[in-house]
Amino acid sequence: MRKITMLGTGLIGMFYTMTLQRHRGRDEVHVVYSPTKDHVKSFAEEWGIPKWTTDMAEAINDPETDVVVVGLPNFVHKEAVVMAAEAGKAVLCTKPLGRNAAEAKAMLDAVEKAGVFHGYLEDLVYTPKMLKSLQFVKDGAIGRVLWVRSRETHGGPHGAWFWDVELAGGGAIIDMGCHCIEIARSFVGKDNKPLEVMCWADTLVHPIEAEDHGIGLIRFESGAVGQFEVSWAFRGGMDLRDEVSGTEGTIWINHFLRTGLELFTAVGRKGYVSEKAEGETGWLFPVGDEVHELGYPDMFTDMLNALDSGSEPAETFYDGYVVNAIMDACYRSAKSKRWEPVELEVWKGAGQPVEEKRPVEYEDKYVVIKEEHMPDGRTKLILKDKETNRVIEKVVSK
Ligand SMILES: NC(=O)c1ccc[n+]([C@@H]2O[C@H](COP(=O)([O-])OP(=O)(O)OC[C@H]3O[C@@H](n4cnc5c(N)ncnc54)[C@H](O)[C@@H]3O)[C@@H](O)[C@H]2O)c1
Repeated sequence: MRKITMLGTGLIGMFYTMTLQRHRGRDEVHVVYSPTKDHVKSFAEEWGIPKWTTDMAEAINDPETDVVVVGLPNFVHKEAVVMAAEAGKAVLCTKPLGRNAAEAKAMLDAVEKAGVFHGYLEDLVYTPKMLKSLQFVKDGAIGRVLWVRSRETHGGPHGAWFWDVELAGGGAIIDMGCHCIEIARSFVGKDNKPLEVMCWADTLVHPIEAEDHGIGLIRFESGAVGQFEVSWAFRGGMDLRDEVSGTEGTIWINHFLRTGLELFTAVGRKGYVSEKAEGETGWLFPVGDEVHELGYPDMFTDMLNALDSGSEPAETFYDGYVVNAIMDACYRSAKSKRWEPVELEVWKGAGQPVEEKRPVEYEDKYVVIKEEHMPDGRTKLILKDKETNRVIEKVVSK
């Protein structure tokens, strides 16, 4: 059993507490912190948490807890992590790790220097559909991963600080691009070094300094490309989708908006439907078990099991740092309108071996580009002459 200090009682503090109190069961959120007294007190009462405080240092240094979960706004992550590391506690921090790579690196250095356990709470690589898909990829079912497309869009966040570029570190890219980037890294392999990025970012709708849209391409050492698409102005709920293209297969994932539970109501029930749902009448797409579909139970199980067994979780602060470095390059590229290098002070990946697919030979002279079955029953081969590089076609069956 782990006794936990929970920092933050907002949306994520609530999802995390819900998961820890309801799911793994044997752990306890023992003390909760938020600067707002009324809110932290009622949060503690609602979730049966024995202690609450408006003093962050007191929560972190509570003598009974050994794990600190950081669910605070982005501009407080570093301060909280450094304090937890200095207290010698295991520290789990929500996404994005930092507002930029320099902040993330300082946090990585702090936990490494203190020698404390650290986990990066990137829930979307732990969703049930992701875990199953990653296993298929690992087992070679889709061959070599070539292209990962990951999308997160909704109508914009629920708290004021998200919209302030200084406090958040950016807009839709820092808020949601971080999820998509880690999804892409997970599929192409974390030993696959991200080399450069090309990114478009713009503020199309909201009266803010940060971007409310972004699309980025990340080129990895193997040649694979990660593509993210984020928007804070999407209408109709929260759209979380991923596509993976490999040499031998394809995966399409829809995590949230249409997961198989579709419900029509003419009157609604005057309440919450699911995260970022825009309406409560008409056709609705409620999500069966929201915390599960978003990956929180498997994420905390991995984190706390790793802590119990003295191993590393699938997501560490190093991963958070790499994601921040990729996002820094995205912001540079959005300005320069050019490919920008990903600047990593430390690269811990082993490198990704690329197995070249050997082309099939045809009659010694050719290599097969493609076999095509035509509607009239013929089979054609598209062939390349090995000496001249000329491409021809040949009907091989009628
Ligand atoms: N899927 C996910 O992993 C996910 C989802 C939502 C949010 N997040 C992350 O969680 C963090 C918090 O987001 P949220 O949605 O819970 O925000 P929120 O605005 O709903 O809640 C923020 C919490 O931090 C407290 N807080 C506000 N200002 C503070 C300050 N100056 N010092 C200390 N505490 C302060 C608030 O009282 C509140 O308890 C962010 O880093 C966000 O990116 C992650």
